[in-house]
Amino acid sequence: MSTLFSTPLQLRSLALSNRLFMPPMCQYSAIDGLPDDWHRQHYVTRALGGVSLIVIEATAVSPEGRISPADLGLWNDAQRDAFKPLVEAIHAAGAKVAVQLAHAGRKASTSIPWLGKGQVPETAGGWGPIAPSAIPFDPADSEPQAMDQGDIDRVKKAFGDATRRAVEAGFDAVELHAAHGYLVHQFLSPLSNTRGDQYGGDLSGRSRLVRELVRVLRHELPASMPLLIRVSATDGLPGGWDVEECATVLKGLQPEGIDFVDVSSGGLAPGAKMVVGPGYQVGFASRIRAATGLPTGAVGLITSAEQVEQILISGSADAVSLGRLLLRDPYWPARHLAPEARRVPGQYLRAFS
Ligand SMILES: Cc1cc2nc3c(=O)[nH]c(=O)nc-3n(C[C@H](O)[C@H](O)[C@H](O)COP(=O)(O)O)c2cc1C
Repeated sequence: MSTLFSTPLQLRSLALSNRLFMPPMCQYSAIDGLPDDWHRQHYVTRALGGVSLIVIEATAVSPEGRISPADLGLWNDAQRDAFKPLVEAIHAAGAKVAVQLAHAGRKASTSIPWLGKGQVPETAGGWGPIAPSAIPFDPADSEPQAMDQGDIDRVKKAFGDATRRAVEAGFDAVELHAAHGYLVHQFLSPLSNTRGDQYGGDLSGRSRLVRELVRVLRHELPASMPLLIRVSATDGLPGGWDVEECATVLKGLQPEGIDFVDVSSGGLAPGAKMVVGPGYQVGFASRIRAATGLPTGAVGLITSAEQVEQILISGSADAVSLGRLLLRDPYWPARHLAPEARRVPGQYLRAFS
């Protein structure tokens, strides 16, 4: 078998040693948004395992933008300072590291998944979510507050400030979270955005926020640093956002300085009709790559070396993210990368020879 996934990938000045990434995966383990020992152990283990790029889990740009009270954050300088040693430790273990900057919008203030389901009430440490329109994620949820222009301006500033802190903390790249039904995706989809102002209506209005955010982020990033974006290519719901709209918006974002599209799907509302199986989102990455010319990442139930290789050989994507596989098996890359591309620590060499 050829080992295309063992070859390097360059994004602006960021040289990645192979095509295997760790995608963002919330740990719901932070207090006051601060990374701690759990995050260090979790991420450094995957860095030692051989991925070229780790994308740190959804990290909130403001307290009300957290999915749960236990999310990571970059809304203050104490959080920035706490990320510095984590970034250094990941670098020392041989991987590069990006952070996914996020705002949960109407999907904010939910429970840590293994401790409960649904929204956390204000009486139990939760808060009232904001959203493009006063439409809840689930009909059983309380209504989010529709954002006014002041809210939109505050969110844009929060994304800019968090990006500046990410640069100061030493990250190699930043990923804008525009997927999975969180705030940016809520603006993009006509099912969650029924605004009558310049941020709603046709595709140009619904994509205004993401365009403005890309400009804000790019303004804070040095020209050498890549800007990644994670999208849901489709809502999987009748009358929803789809891959054609997604490709059109991304093509328009390309001149604004997007360097890589991490292609996922779904998450906007319950009841999506997604056929979930091996590599079920690869076709979306391929479609977006062909339509925009942008490098893409494929993710979602990719679990064998043959699958990874096929995705790259067929030109569907430029990199592959391995999510739950790496939670089960952090050393999968070390076992499957070509011997000359492996980054096995000296202490572990006897296990890989
Ligand atoms: C525990 C867990 C947490 C996740 N958190 C995030 C997140 O913070 N941001 C995000 O964009 N996707 C998140 N995801 C989705 C993953 O990044 C990935 O897209 C998904 O698991 C599908 O890939 P896989 O089949 O390789 O696991 C999460 C997934 C899991 C399992």
